[in-house]
Amino acid sequence: MDIAKRPHVFVGNWKMYKTIPETIEYIKELTPLVASALSNVCLAVPFTAIRAAAEAAKESNILIGAQNMSAEAEGAFTGEISAAMLKDAGAQFVILGHSERRRLYCEDDNLINRKLKMALKNNLKVILCVGETLQQREEGRDKEVLKQQLIANLVGITKEQLKDIKIAYEPVWAIGTGKTATPEIAEETHKFCRQTISSEWGEEAARGVDLLYGGSVNAENAKALIGQPDIDGLLIGGASLAVDTFYRIITYY
Ligand code: PGA
Repeated sequence: MDIAKRPHVFVGNWKMYKTIPETIEYIKELTPLVASALSNVCLAVPFTAIRAAAEAAKESNILIGAQNMSAEAEGAFTGEISAAMLKDAGAQFVILGHSERRRLYCEDDNLINRKLKMALKNNLKVILCVGETLQQREEGRDKEVLKQQLIANLVGITKEQLKDIKIAYEPVWAIGTGKTATPEIAEETHKFCRQTISSEWGEEAARGVDLLYGGSVNAENAKALIGQPDIDGLLIGGASLAVDTFYRIITYY
């Protein structure tokens, strides 16, 4: 499939790092560096820092988002944060289905699908993460697992709604391990994800969807990954925590 080249997307996933003052300092430092960047620069910050981050990023081209949210609209759900609350705090997108949420907090495909629909209903864009474990890859089941996740997580989503969703392929074995998928493996898998989208939602929808790669991305391997035709962007954990490494990834060229 011929992919029309569009601006790349770089998303920093801070996980459970950074206080409010650290967040503000980071954004102040990053803002002038990316002022003329042609790429889309996004930061998924902790809940507590969303408000301050959105405020600090107001005059910049950095988009602020969250890393998770509740599937419920409101109610007696102690400790949960709703989509409306994220919006209210200034988030423009939310990461859903991250493997750490699936594995450590037992989030299943059905829950992720409900969250996704709730996010879209509240005008939040979504970065949906999918990815296979090492065992699933070694058993040759990686494509089957990815297809199953994509279809189950996106059940009931229309072609129109797909425009507000980006998909991040994050092989579980590559997250935080220092082991990146080779550009060839990443490209082959991205191509497969695009084909899966194409067979469910049509070729035009598949061509339009941004597919991000995530898992031990750093300033050294970013260029080769982003150079692949089906890789539209990168989801970066550890290497997004310092402004200089994140910036080096964004300006890989
Ligand atoms: P990593 O994390 O870059 O630290 O491997 C990526 C992610 O979990 O999104």
